[in-house]
This record gives sequence, C-alpha cells and structure tokens, in this order.
Amino acid sequence: METQLHLGPLGSRTGLNISTIGTGLWSVAGSEWGPADDEGTLEAIEASLDLGINFFDTADVYGGGHSEELLGRAMRGRRERFVVATKIGWIEFDGEAGKSQYDTVDKLVAGVEDSLRRLGTDYVDVIQCHIFFTEPNTPVFIEGFRRLKESGKVRSWGISTGELGPLQAFNADGDCDVLQIDYSILNRIPETEILPYCQEAGIGVIVRGPLAMGLLADKYDASATFPDNDFRHNWIENPEQNEQFLQDLDTVAALRSAVPEGQTMAQFAIRFVSSHPAVSTAIPGARNARQARSNAASGLLPRLSGEESRHIDRIVPPGGGRKIWPA
Ligand SMILES: NC(=O)c1ccc[n+]([C@@H]2O[C@H](COP(=O)([O-])OP(=O)(O)OC[C@H]3O[C@@H](n4cnc5c(N)ncnc54)[C@H](OP(=O)(O)O)[C@@H]3O)[C@@H](O)[C@H]2O)c1
Repeated sequence: METQLHLGPLGSRTGLNISTIGTGLWSVAGSEWGPADDEGTLEAIEASLDLGINFFDTADVYGGGHSEELLGRAMRGRRERFVVATKIGWIEFDGEAGKSQYDTVDKLVAGVEDSLRRLGTDYVDVIQCHIFFTEPNTPVFIEGFRRLKESGKVRSWGISTGELGPLQAFNADGDCDVLQIDYSILNRIPETEILPYCQEAGIGVIVRGPLAMGLLADKYDASATFPDNDFRHNWIENPEQNEQFLQDLDTVAALRSAVPEGQTMAQFAIRFVSSHPAVSTAIPGARNARQARSNAASGLLPRLSGEESRHIDRIVPPGGGRKIWPA
C-alpha cells in the first residue's frame, strides 16, 4: 500500500508541484479558534511532512503573525521541503471606508516582505489577496503581485474568494495563477461557475474548509459547546447561526450512510473535494498530529466512485448547500 501522497501541478502556470492534500494553519494560531498549543502545531506539521504533504497555507493576519512565525520555525534549515502559501490584505483594513491599507505598490511589497521575515525565508511560493471582494486597492494588489513575481519574492499569485467577479478582475489579463476557495459537501456552490472557470483558465485551485470548520468530522451534536474565543461559539449562541448549525447536523447525520467502512466522515469529505477535476489541493486545518495524519491519509484513498457521488447528490445536490463564513 502507498504511504506517500501524490504530487500534482498547481494549475497550468505556476510550475509548482504540490501534494493533493495540504495543511491549513489558521486554527493553530491561537486566535479565533480557541486555545492552541505550539507544540501540537509543530507536531502536525511534522506528521504532514512524514506523509508527503509539502503544501502549507497561512496568512499575515492569523494569530497576528504567529501562524507564519510557527511555520517559519518548522522550515528552518529545510526550506526546500515546503511549498508555502500566504495571504495579505486584512491587517488594518478600514471597515468604514471598505478598503485595505495597501494604496501603493510599495506598501503592498513591504507588507509581503514582513511575511517573508516572519516566515524566515526570502520567497513564498504563493501569495494570495485575502480580501474576497473588489475594493479600491484591487489594482494595487495585482500590480504589486506581478512586481513581486518578477523580483522572485513570490513564485505565483492569486486571490482567495468564492465570487467569480473578483477572480475575473484578477485574471483580466490571463495571468492570475491560483484561486483559494471554500468548497465542501456542505457548500457545493463553487461547482456551478467558478470551478469550471478555473479549469478552463488553468488557474490552480486550493480548497479551504473541506471539513466545513469541523462540522464534516461528524463530532458534534446539539449539545456542543465552544470556548468564548472560538468563533464557533456563535453556532450555539446566535439564534440564526444555531438554526443553521442544527440543519447542518441533520445533513451530517444523513451523510453517515454514504461513508464507506474503514473511513471516517472527515476522510470521506476530503475525498469529495479532491475528486473534483478542477481541484489541485485541499487544505484541511489540523491542530495536532492525529488530525494531520487522518487528513493526509484521505489523499491515499481512491477518488469517489459514481455511486458514492450519486449518494452525496441525493443529500446535497450539485451546486447546492450554503456559503460558510467567512466566504
Ligand atoms: N482565505 C480565507 O479567507 C480562509 C478562510 C478560512 C480558512 N482558510 C484556510 O483554510 C484552512 C482550512 O480551513 P478551515 O480551518 O476553516 O476549515 P476545515 O479545514 O474545514 O476545518 C478545520 C478544523 O476542523 C477540525 N479538524 C481538522 N481535522 C480533523 C479531523 N481529522 N478530525 C476531526 N476534526 C478535525 C479542527 O478543529 P477542531 O479540532 O477545533 O474542531 C480544524 O481546525 C485554514 O487553516 C486556512 O489555512 C482560509
């Protein structure tokens, strides 16, 4: 039996070969997702590498830079084993004016250089605009990313969004390399337009949220609780979100009969997104080595069969489901 994940191209322009499963490093930063411990994170990164994961996703804003710093610690002395994707955009975003602080290319370049310092590297493989809508500084991001690529500080660039319009704006000249998007059994909306667009345009697709922030691990019931500093406590305390949470629990319960023996629902959910032909990699967040191993193992399993796909379609139809915050 194979024990190492396959590598495949990240779209048609980046020249990067990445593992079909990557590791997301948001929840490990210790902000927004309740307490996190650095040792657990470093062990998750180590377990990911052991199984052949080379792709890691972070952002300048996760934990106020702590996520990038931790990844930097893990990379020390072995940068070549990592394909690093980070994001820029939300630090000091002006909510009232609806615009980012990056109103000149020099500021944007300086912001990416701050990420390079935290990561302890002189280049990142992928830089993504973290702001998922078009804002006054969108042209600055595009121009700045092009300049960073020319100078070798980034190898490829793109945007993280679930909307076709901002992606088309980024790809107006046909040189946007990657898209990051929320996609899962609970959110199949990307299947209608944006994933086919990426396939046609050769844009590499990085799927975040394949477990719908843990929902598709089938580990919650109506009595679930979350720490105050975990944004998921809104699933319980906010009446609208709680209604949605209870509906999601019903969907998860209906999915149980679709999960083959010997697999967890989390693995089945990751297989679902990996089976879409537009998808280059899925980046489930992993807080510890156990989650990282289980998630990576889903990349060693076969693509969904026709019958498995039809079973899911009967529960959440193609193109169906709902957007999941922060999409
Ligand atoms: N671009 C953006 O705006 C944006 C937005 C969201 C995410 N992202 C990126 O995408 C990555 C993944 O997305 P996500 O973290 O939102 O959602 P996700 O991958 O759907 O869910 C991850 C969470 O599920 C739980 N989990 C993971 N593996 C598990 C397993 N095997 N068994 C049981 N529970 C498991 C963990 O939380 P608990 O253990 O606490 O349950 C983990 O933090 C992030 O880390 C980040 O890199 C980007």
